[in-house]
Amino acid sequence: MLPSLESWYLVCAASELRPGQVRAVDDLEPALLVYRTRSGQLRASARFCPHLGTDLTKGSVDGDGLTCPMHAWKFDGSGACVEAPGYAQPKRRLAQYPVLERYGAIFVATSPEVRFEPAFVDLPESQAVSRLGAPFDVGCAWHVAAANSYDIRHFATIHRRSFHSEPELSLASPSQLQIRIHAGATGDGLRERVIRSWGKNSVQIRITNHGGTLLTVESRVRSMALHVLVSLYPLASGTRVRTLFAIPRSGPLDALKLRWSMGRSLSFIAQDLAVLDGARLDPEHVVPEDEHLRRFYAWLPRRAAPALPPGAA
Ligand code: FES
Ligand SMILES: [Fe+2]
Repeated sequence: MLPSLESWYLVCAASELRPGQVRAVDDLEPALLVYRTRSGQLRASARFCPHLGTDLTKGSVDGDGLTCPMHAWKFDGSGACVEAPGYAQPKRRLAQYPVLERYGAIFVATSPEVRFEPAFVDLPESQAVSRLGAPFDVGCAWHVAAANSYDIRHFATIHRRSFHSEPELSLASPSQLQIRIHAGATGDGLRERVIRSWGKNSVQIRITNHGGTLLTVESRVRSMALHVLVSLYPLASGTRVRTLFAIPRSGPLDALKLRWSMGRSLSFIAQDLAVLDGARLDPEHVVPEDEHLRRFYAWLPRRAAPALPPGAA
C-alpha cells in the first residue's frame, strides 16, 4: 500500500453503513475505518487501537462511541478514551478523520487539512439522482489515470472526438484544476452518430481535478447532463477506482436515464482503461505539444507526484 495523498476518498454507498455498523476503509493508507453511531452520526477514525493495536473493525459501536474488543477501551467522537475498565484513565487518543455523507455515498479525508469538499460542480446534492459504480482496478499509477483528462490529444485517437475550440485550463481554486472541452464526434459508432445527429455534434465536457486523486467530470449533450465522480486509490500495483454517477433530478424516468448514462460513460472510460493499463508515464517525457499535461503536472501537489518535470513549480 502506498501512502495516500491528502484528499477525500469515496468509500462506499451510504446504505452500506447502517447505525451500529463499523466498516474498514479498504485500500487506504493510513488504515481507517468508518462507523455510524446508534443515533446515526457518521465517524471516521484510525483502524487500529492506540493501546495494543487491535483491529477496531472487530469492535462494537457502543452508544456514542467505539469500544475495542480486546480490553474494552471506549473512544468517543473526539477520539478521547472515555472508559478503560481496570486501567488508570489512559491519555491515548484514537485519531479521528473528516467524514461526510454526500450524494448517497460516504467520503473520508486522510487529513483535516484538505481544503475542498467532495462535490459535483454545479449539481447540489438536493438536486441529484445518484448511483455508485462497481470498483475496478487499473494497472497504472494513480497520477497516470488522473493525467488522462489533460492529455488532450488522446481524445482524437482513443475517443474519436474533435475539438470545436482549444480546450481551456483554469484554476477553480488552488486545489482544483479544471479543463473545459467542447468537442464533436468523429467515427461511425452508434454513439458518435447519435452525437452528430441528435446532439448537433456538440459535447461540452468539464473535468475538475480536486487535489490530485479526486475528479469530477460533467458532460453535456444538448440538455442531457451526466456527472461522474472518480476517486483514485493509490495501490502498490496500480490504482483502484471508485465511481459515483449522478444526473439532475427531473422526473419519474430518472433511474432509467441514469442507468443509460452510466453505461455510456463506462464504455467511454473502458476506452481509456484499455490503453492505460500497464502504462508507465514519466512526467519528464511530456513534450511541448502536451502543454495541458505539462500544466497538470506543474499544478499537481508536489508531494503527490513521483517525478515532476524540472522547474515545474
Ligand atoms: S488493544 Fe484496544 S483496548 Fe487494549
Ligand atoms: Fe480518456
